[in-house]
This record gives sequence, C-alpha cells and structure tokens, in this order.
Amino acid sequence: MKHLLGIEQLTKEEIFSLIDHAVELKRKRGRDEAVKDILKGETWAMIFTKSSTRTRVSFEVGLNELGATALFLNANDIQLGRGEPIKDTARVLGRMAHGAIIRTFAQQDVVDFAEYGAIPTINALTDEEHPCQILADLLTMRERLGGWEGKKVTFFGDGDCNMGRSWAWAAKRLGLELVIAAPRAFQPDDEFMERLGEAPVTLTEDVLAASDGADVLYTDTWVSMGREAEAAERLKILAPFQINAALVDRANDGAIVQHCLPAYRDKEISEAVFEERADEIFQQAENRLHAQKAILIALAAGR
Ligand code: CP
Ligand code: NVA
Repeated sequence: MKHLLGIEQLTKEEIFSLIDHAVELKRKRGRDEAVKDILKGETWAMIFTKSSTRTRVSFEVGLNELGATALFLNANDIQLGRGEPIKDTARVLGRMAHGAIIRTFAQQDVVDFAEYGAIPTINALTDEEHPCQILADLLTMRERLGGWEGKKVTFFGDGDCNMGRSWAWAAKRLGLELVIAAPRAFQPDDEFMERLGEAPVTLTEDVLAASDGADVLYTDTWVSMGREAEAAERLKILAPFQINAALVDRANDGAIVQHCLPAYRDKEISEAVFEERADEIFQQAENRLHAQKAILIALAAGR
C-alpha cells in the first residue's frame, strides 16, 4: 500500500489486514516494543484546510506512539492558503517530510499531492471520501458485532456526503449490505452509482424499511464542512431521516448506533438515542487511533 486516498482504492485483503493489525495494536497499546520506534526519526506533515478534533488528535497521538513527529500545518498558515498550488506544496514537503496526512475539499488535491510529493499520502477527509473513519468503523463492527459479514448497515441522512460514499465503497469491497436512507436529492448521484458498479447498496427514502433488521444504524451531520450556506434547507429536508427511538426499535437485537461525530443533537440523531448509545459511539471515536496506527505502519512498509 503506497497511499490511502480512499476506500475505493483498497482491496478486500488490504482492509482485512489493516483491521487485523488495528485489533492487535489496540490490544498491545503502551507495551508494544515492536512498534514504539517503527517511525523513529520521521516527520509526517498534517495539512488541514478544514476543522478537526478526532482526526487531528488521533493522528498526532498515533504518530507519537510510533516514534514519529507530527507537523501540523493549518492550510491558511502556509503558502497553500495564499494560492501556492498543491503540487508545488507537495514537491517541497516530499523532499522534507516522510509522509503527509491531508484534510481538504477536493479529492483531486489529495491525488495530486500523492503524485507530486511521492511520499505516503493519507486522505484525512475530502468532500469525496473519509477512509480513515470507515476503517475505524469496521474495527468497531468487528469488536461489537464480531465482524461485518452478513451484516446490514443503514446510513441515514445526507447519503451523498463523504461518509455515504466511503460506506458504499466499503460495501462493495467487503460484500456487506448497505442501505442509504436519504431523500432523493441527498442520495449518491447517478454518476457515482455508475462508477460504483455492481454493489450490495440500496438507496431508499423509506426510513422504516431501512431500519428493519439493521445491525448498524449510522448517521453523520446533515451539514458537512463547506455546506454551511445550505444549512437551513438541509435541516428541513433531512428532518424525517433522524435516528431516534422509533427507528432503533425496528433494528436487530444487538444492533449498534454509530456516528462519525461531531454530532448535532436532535438534528441527525435524537438526544436520547445519542446519550443511550454514547459508549458505542465513543468507542468508534477511540478506534480512529488504533486504525490509523495500522494505516501509518502499512504505508511506511509500502515505501
Ligand atoms: N469524525 C471526524 O473525522 O472527526 P473530526 O472532524 O473531529 O476529525
Ligand atoms: N460529512 C462530515 C464528516 C465530518 C467528520 C463532513 O464532511 O463535515
């Protein structure tokens, strides 16, 4: 594995290997001599154009635990923010840093950085994909449900955002059943569905049917970063797609509720369900750390 640009680019075998390794890293955290210096002497640049709590902290802590230095660069503080092209930024950092972790808008920027920087490059969220989150989610499914084989994941709300799209690729790669319950205008568009090709992914507006027999009820903010101007309209159209007790009641026994966070209570998820399910939701957040350590090690090995 040379880069992590999206779930789209991963194979089933690579996903399994990352999750297996994440399980082991989590179990041995703090007493794993084999990894504590595995990235020693390395500096990984973290270029962020959007806000972040979980991704930033989990990568900084993870790099530290692997012996590397994290160099956090707010895109507005470097020349990128004044218009220096991403490919020139990549050519500079590629000669100094050992890897790059990028959060931005356009997927093409991450692709270009990987090409011109020629150092391991990780997509830490673009408008198109959020692969690091999905890998943490799969780790949580492994822990809570024993795996994803034969499971039904229902994604409620803005199905056409980075999370919905990354889940669609995960469903295709792993063969798990994904239902995207979203208003027509917030379902992945035809162009995306064509690119996805044959996959166990269903699009529906029927939230009740989508909840029936689900093993994972998943949601994300209705207003992704960069979409703030559309907030009022989105909140109105997406209101019927909230995860609440009525939907949870229809899911399978033992079903989990997941949210990539940050959560907006009584918008995409009711306050009551969020608090009742906080343990599994924050386990999911913690798993960012373990999954990303596995990603960093895999990329370092793939150079
Ligand atoms: N889920 C997630 O990526 O959180 P942050 O935006 O806080 O990094
Ligand atoms: N879809 C959300 C995910 C946040 C982690 C966003 O892009 O803002």
